[in-house]
Amino acid sequence: DTVRVFAPATVANMICGFDILGFAVDYPGDEVLMHRVTAPGVRIRSITGDEGRLPLDADKNTVSACVKMLLEHLGISREIGVEIELIKHMPIGSGLGSSSASTVAGLFAINSLLGNPLTKEELLPFCVEGERLACGHGHADNVAPALMGGITLIRGHHPLDVIKLPVPEELYAGIVFPKVDVPTRDARQLIKEKVLLKDAVTQWGNIAGLIAGLYESDYGLISRSMHDVLIEPTRAILIPEFYVMKQIALNAGALSFGISGSGPSVVAVSRGKEIAENAANLIQQHLTDCEIDSLKYVSPVN
Ligand code: HSE
Repeated sequence: DTVRVFAPATVANMICGFDILGFAVDYPGDEVLMHRVTAPGVRIRSITGDEGRLPLDADKNTVSACVKMLLEHLGISREIGVEIELIKHMPIGSGLGSSSASTVAGLFAINSLLGNPLTKEELLPFCVEGERLACGHGHADNVAPALMGGITLIRGHHPLDVIKLPVPEELYAGIVFPKVDVPTRDARQLIKEKVLLKDAVTQWGNIAGLIAGLYESDYGLISRSMHDVLIEPTRAILIPEFYVMKQIALNAGALSFGISGSGPSVVAVSRGKEIAENAANLIQQHLTDCEIDSLKYVSPVN
């Protein structure tokens, strides 16, 4: 038996919702091929597309470690044998939920090989554990949309309380990944523990406005609301040309522009594909002028 599972990249935070909002895109994404074998145990058969950066040791690799965790939870780790082929189609440490996509694909694959003993909701906590292994913190704002699709709200982490939000039809993401390394672990350590009440008020007004905008498909309200006064000012320092890219995206007509996850990828959230594409192209052109290599992905929020 073999299953092949694709899990998509995700844009965590959705600009103003640090650790509580995230959305999935059509591409890029990662794939897992999982083969049922007779010898019990979880093994990595191969990893491609990672430039040799991910461990092949099944105890150290996040995907296999999560698969083992699930088998242990089900009490069948001594009976079941699987081999994993991990095919990475997106860069690691890019802010696109690369480790989340792999983990979600791996857990979804083992669950389907076993005949779906767990629902998606029940799989989610195992995905969150994968995130904790990958970056030291168990946030769900990448794994939840990677598993469930669309836009998700993590109302609470303890216990997990995830709500799927409506996706306005014309919402597109123009994503640019400037090829610099920003590990999530480092990008989280930078953030200040304390915030000013006035900034907190601005931020929760924006989050509430964004949620209302999504329910109403009110693009003006979405645009007014997608601003981050808490995290972006600190993290933007790690991203070359951040404020120039922001100006370019807004001039191109994007509804909003900000950091994807913990960066360095940036996202121009736009109404319609054309604006997203144009914003991403202009940003890439600027980065080329600055001699910074980049990758671009344009996709509906999905
Ligand atoms: N919410 C997380 C962060 C996403 O911003 O650190 C990173 O994966």
